[in-house]
Amino acid sequence: MQQTSDLRDAALSVRENAHAPYSKFKVGAAIRAVSGTIYRGCNVENVAYPEGTCAEAGAIAAMVASGETALTQVYVVAGSPSPVPPCGGCRQKLAEFGSGDVSVTLATVDGIERATTIADLLPGAFDAGHMA
Ligand code: THU
Repeated sequence: MQQTSDLRDAALSVRENAHAPYSKFKVGAAIRAVSGTIYRGCNVENVAYPEGTCAEAGAIAAMVASGETALTQVYVVAGSPSPVPPCGGCRQKLAEFGSGDVSVTLATVDGIERATTIADLLPGAFDAGHMA
């Protein structure tokens, strides 16, 4: 069983930095890369609404900017009544850098957690094999 407490702490702390003046819905994401380093991201909204970015996308961007391209574990937390499911685009983004069996924990700030995997979140994923 992989440890989640360090990822949860990272996701909760970065969530505080979310820029969500329009939805008022702050999200924090933390991913563990193969090296063991934890990368964090929060949602960053924009007055031109479609230009906003999700917490998961921010964490992935931080990982790639640091030179890593493989993630082993994901944690997402929001102030929702039940654990928030990643949007479709973020599911595809996670699948780009993690295998199907990568553990994804979805959580509320109150501590409710739902454990899932990248494959469960994105069944039938489009991948590079489809372009062979
Ligand atoms: N959001 C995320 O950052 N991640 C998710 O998994 C779900 C939704 C953000 C996008 C937007 O800033 C706000 O939550 C409301 O949709």
